[in-house]
Amino acid sequence: MRMVLMGGSLRPDSLNLRLLGHLVADLAARGHAVASFAGEALRLPLYEQDLAVPEGVQALHAALMDAQGVVIVSPEYNAGIPGHMKNAVDWPSTLRPNPWQGLPVLLCAASPGALGGARGLVPWRLTLANMGALVCPDAITVPHADHQLDGAGAPTDPRTAGHMAKALDSFLALAARLRPGLED
Ligand SMILES: Cc1cc2nc3c(=O)[nH]c(=O)nc-3n(C[C@H](O)[C@H](O)[C@H](O)COP(=O)(O)O)c2cc1C
Repeated sequence: MRMVLMGGSLRPDSLNLRLLGHLVADLAARGHAVASFAGEALRLPLYEQDLAVPEGVQALHAALMDAQGVVIVSPEYNAGIPGHMKNAVDWPSTLRPNPWQGLPVLLCAASPGALGGARGLVPWRLTLANMGALVCPDAITVPHADHQLDGAGAPTDPRTAGHMAKALDSFLALAARLRPGLED
């Protein structure tokens, strides 16, 4: 299937960026076609109605239109969505067709904290539902990610690894059911 992964913070050492790298490699190893929007690709101009649509937004919109599923890997800022990521999902929602409509989404987060960024995923569900996306009930969270992600972004805790594999399987099954017409 064709998957878009987007996320990470803007800092090069982002834990979420590292997790995203692992998920890209995992999905590619399973034979899926993966497009990644991370780091500088998400440093988009702040949305403004009268602004010409930036190239980066057009590229993201095109990838989302073509995707059978999207994996969002988001830091948690004050139990919410970081500004650069909210901006990155708002922009494509202003274009037509709205690429989020009916799009299956898997939410993921990594945090040095004990809750793994789980609180930040709650507002993500509200925003994505408002845009028409279909968010997978399962999610991936990595607590104590500064210790529990290896250099390639793989979880070192076996429980987290097991949970991650199960969530990915659920999401891929959901995407295959919701977007079967777009199968390669
Ligand atoms: C403004 C701000 C607010 C934050 N709020 C939370 C929070 O609510 N919960 C949490 O677990 N971590 C919070 N953090 C810590 C981030 O989870 C931590 O900095 C994490 O490493 C950010 O993701 P990154 O490694 O991908 O950059 C916050 C960090 C910042 C900068």
